[in-house]
Amino acid sequence: MRKKIVAANWKMNLNQSTANTLLEGLATIENAACEVVICPSFTLLSTAQSKLPSNFSLGAQNVHPAPEGAFTGEVSASMLKDMKVKYCIVGHSERREYFAETDAFIAEKIKSLLSNGITPIFCCGENLQIRQNNSHQSCVESQIRNTFSLFTAKDIESVVIAYEPVWAIGTGMTASPEQAEEMHLHIRQVWKDMFGETAAAQLSILYGGSCKADNAASIFAMPNVDGGLIGGASLKLDEFKVIVNACK
Ligand code: 13P
Repeated sequence: MRKKIVAANWKMNLNQSTANTLLEGLATIENAACEVVICPSFTLLSTAQSKLPSNFSLGAQNVHPAPEGAFTGEVSASMLKDMKVKYCIVGHSERREYFAETDAFIAEKIKSLLSNGITPIFCCGENLQIRQNNSHQSCVESQIRNTFSLFTAKDIESVVIAYEPVWAIGTGMTASPEQAEEMHLHIRQVWKDMFGETAAAQLSILYGGSCKADNAASIFAMPNVDGGLIGGASLKLDEFKVIVNACK
């Protein structure tokens, strides 16, 4: 179902003490008009699960597609489900780049998440060179088509997409509201072509990449932007509060 979401990707940050402080601060956010999803590292899932305000959702940053077995260091979708995880980020550009994750591997993760009732937040986005070559729409389109080619409209009902231009992640360079809107509209059209009109109308598409207190409202105001996936700014309570309140 299409809804407004602000998701915090804490990445490899915080410890039990600093996470506790931030979680206590999050509890002071009242009457959020969007769903707030907190995605901590695996080591902080348990703390977050017990401390998270009841109207917030818990997310994970990664999953292994296999149900169980000899995969040292990995975590399965059923283990996440066991921790009451509702969302899981997949296809993040940092995992594509540093861990050589392919579209096919990401598709396996999505399959495993869906069969465990966990909503994938599928990240896609182009790098700076592709943007400068004006190939950004075809780049994102092929990431989506390659990943979801074997899925049906029924399978993808719960999937959330996050458009995260790589050149905007952690750089302070943000896509303009118009650049975000252009890509989000394109993503919705690709989704319509693949899965039909209803699926496209129901898809939530988040923007990520240096989304901060001072630019969130203008990006979230665009008609095809349904919220944000927030990195650095989600670690700062005051900044994150403003972003959550900008999403309505
Ligand atoms: P920043 O908000 O730090 O640019 O990170 C965005 C991101 O990668 C969220 O997944």
